[in-house]
Amino acid sequence: MKNKLTQLQEKRQQALKGGGQQRIESQHKKGKLTARERLHFLLDENSFEEIGMLVSHRSTDFGMEQEKYPGDGVVTGYGTINGRLVYVFSQDFTVFGGSLSETHAEKICKIMDLALKNGAPVVGLNDSGGARIQEGVVSLGGYADIFYRNTLASGVVPQISAIMGPCAGGAVYSPAITDFILMVEHTSYMFVTGPNVVKTVTHEEVTSEELGGASTHAVKSGVTHFACANEIEAIENIKKLLSYVPQNCEETAPLLPYQAASEERPELNNILPENANQPYDIRDVINHAIDDGTFFEVHKDFAENIVVGFGRLAGRSIGIVANQPAFLAGVLDIKASTKAARFVRFCDCFNIPLLVFEDVPGFLPGTDQEWNGIIVNGAKLLYAFCEATVPRITVITRKAYGGAYDVMNSKHIGSDMNYAWPTAEIAVMGAKGAAEIIFKKEIASAQDHNAKWLEKEKEYSDIFANPYRAAERGFIDEVIEPSQTRSKLIKAFSMLQNKVVNHPKKKHGNIPL
Ligand code: HXC
Repeated sequence: MKNKLTQLQEKRQQALKGGGQQRIESQHKKGKLTARERLHFLLDENSFEEIGMLVSHRSTDFGMEQEKYPGDGVVTGYGTINGRLVYVFSQDFTVFGGSLSETHAEKICKIMDLALKNGAPVVGLNDSGGARIQEGVVSLGGYADIFYRNTLASGVVPQISAIMGPCAGGAVYSPAITDFILMVEHTSYMFVTGPNVVKTVTHEEVTSEELGGASTHAVKSGVTHFACANEIEAIENIKKLLSYVPQNCEETAPLLPYQAASEERPELNNILPENANQPYDIRDVINHAIDDGTFFEVHKDFAENIVVGFGRLAGRSIGIVANQPAFLAGVLDIKASTKAARFVRFCDCFNIPLLVFEDVPGFLPGTDQEWNGIIVNGAKLLYAFCEATVPRITVITRKAYGGAYDVMNSKHIGSDMNYAWPTAEIAVMGAKGAAEIIFKKEIASAQDHNAKWLEKEKEYSDIFANPYRAAERGFIDEVIEPSQTRSKLIKAFSMLQNKVVNHPKKKHGNIPL
């Protein structure tokens, strides 16, 4: 027995060493943690149970049978985060650069299958040189097996991908299918083809960082939802993110204890500027309306004209979508529409109620937007709201113009409660533009065109630049003082907590992609 135990201990020790001390040091020198160190910081103490520690690859080409590392470049298993079950995989760059072999893929698939069967999130810590080059097509098959499971798990259990090193080639598509991506500044990158291929094909000279670093994907492409200063920050963000979401689509997010207090927020009466064309930061409205310090913004640096993120109202997790007047006047464009649509769909998958703050002058005009498909992309947000069955509430703080009024969770597309502040302006378009079109002849024939235009602008504005026409129709349920917003929202979300909606039976919808 003693010998057997020694043998087991030796095997375990060997697995714990990964690719060896030298490679671990090289990993540390790059400012990166090892696969096991990352799991140590991610999971509750002593909660990690490893699965497949002794798995090794089956490759025999290129003398590979001589070079085997137990675990084969990925540490997989389950554990808890804040006491809640989570399945994890963490790629080990010290073993063949964390590259994906057949067995490496099988290990990931195994924990994904368990996560699906048992209804708990999957967190993947990616640090990999892509397909194991020595294995050829077998490795490509392994990727496809993972993509398939990512798709099956989509909408069933939350899936989170942290990119903590290289992520190239097809490897980027698994994270892309998952719900949230986090990248680490300066030590991680994602691209379909690296700088060398780019140079050969398009003659562009670009560094890895510029092509696919954290900032690039946080600001330009929107591929990553979070750009984190370091790995620890990324890990803390994963934990925070999970605190707002349920374990699976059958459950609701954890309800935190909440002490009811005065819900009046007089500060909200003083946020909007006197001039309706002046910007203000919608985050000030969000932060005063929801539980103190609970706003957790997602996709912060991408399409800043719309703000999305999680928060809590009386301890209950909610998803927030808000136009941002402080950036491009809060206009809806292609990026803002797709960003918000994806967030709305995530919340709807996982029973997270939606709160919308609306101040939108409309969709962004122009050839760039039209030629790049604002029609189809704007429709994504429209579709996402229309199909969402979670409790949905809108607060119109100021502008609600044109198609954007309909799209931003209007009553007509299934919102449950729609509030407006007295400052709301709900119309087909702004008064100036409206007057120019419908009073064109009168303005043209007037002696003083400008005076006539101003007169007609005022006439249109008096009729429509307010919330009362919409309230008369019942499109707005109540016009409220801004200071009442929080108390109204708490009561309304509580009233809606048992909401059930049955849509027509179908296989699945066909969202405009
Ligand atoms: C096998 C690999 C590997 C790979 C790296 N290694 N990538 N082994 N397959 N894909 C090994 C190296 O041989 C080396 O082994 C160790 O990992 C560390 O690699 P280095 O190059 O020394 O590290 P670094 O300088 O940090 O560069 C990392 C890297 C580079 C940028 C990832 O290694 C690289 O470009 N690798 C190839 C990337 C690639 O083209 N992958 C295929 C993508 S296509 P030793 O023994 O020295 O430690 C793809 C298709 C998937 O993934 C399609 C799915 C649909």
